[in-house]
Amino acid sequence: MLQTTRLNLRPWRTSDADAYAALQGDPIVRRFFPAPLRREQAEADLAAHMDKFATNGFGMLAAELKSTGDFVGLIGIGRVPDIIKSVIPSQPEIEIGWVINHSFWGQGLAPEGATACRDYAFQTLECPEIVAFTAAINTPSQRVMEKIGLTRAPEDDYLHPRIPEGHPLRPHVLYRMKNPAGS
Ligand SMILES: CC(C)(COP(=O)(O)OP(=O)(O)OC[C@H]1O[C@@H](n2cnc3c(N)ncnc32)[C@H](O)[C@@H]1OP(=O)(O)O)[C@@H](O)C(=O)NCCC(=O)NCCS
Repeated sequence: MLQTTRLNLRPWRTSDADAYAALQGDPIVRRFFPAPLRREQAEADLAAHMDKFATNGFGMLAAELKSTGDFVGLIGIGRVPDIIKSVIPSQPEIEIGWVINHSFWGQGLAPEGATACRDYAFQTLECPEIVAFTAAINTPSQRVMEKIGLTRAPEDDYLHPRIPEGHPLRPHVLYRMKNPAGS
């Protein structure tokens, strides 16, 4: 469990299935993804987060408001999936990411939670670097990257291997930050 001023960040539970499916099934939240997730896709996605956490000991986490217990979304770190890593020249290892329920947008919750995850990656896991990536047209997510101290790395921009040629979501941008404690 990680804590910030307003958030608890914790591993996923099977009882999160309804909240997770509502988050990832929302076309507003998923406007920079190819499509909202159907219920069975969301359940598979949630199971994958739980598996990865069990394997790696870290992962994407459930974010809840401390004051009310409301489910806010997903914030966390993970291993860059091989299919993405294979198309990025620098072959990054650890990514940081976020998906916030749209009723909570604009309150700085993503950067607040992501700052705690960034610090965990650098101080506890001693990762030499973290990256974040998103569709080039997803400027709100790029603002979060900037707010937590990541810097655009245009040399690592890439075309998403699972999105067809000509699709507006295919061009992706990458941001990175080196561990300040590193040499
Ligand atoms: C990107 C996202 C995580 C930002 O979370 P947040 O908690 O609202 O973060 P912030 O409050 O710091 O806002 C960040 C930016 O989001 C945008 N934003 C904020 N409120 C918004 C709203 N109500 N409507 C549209 N965009 C909004 C702004 O560009 C803002 O930048 P600014 O603070 O410089 O104006 C959130 O919009 C989201 O979950 N989007 C959908 C999922 C997604 O794209 N995830 C990233 C995948 S790589």
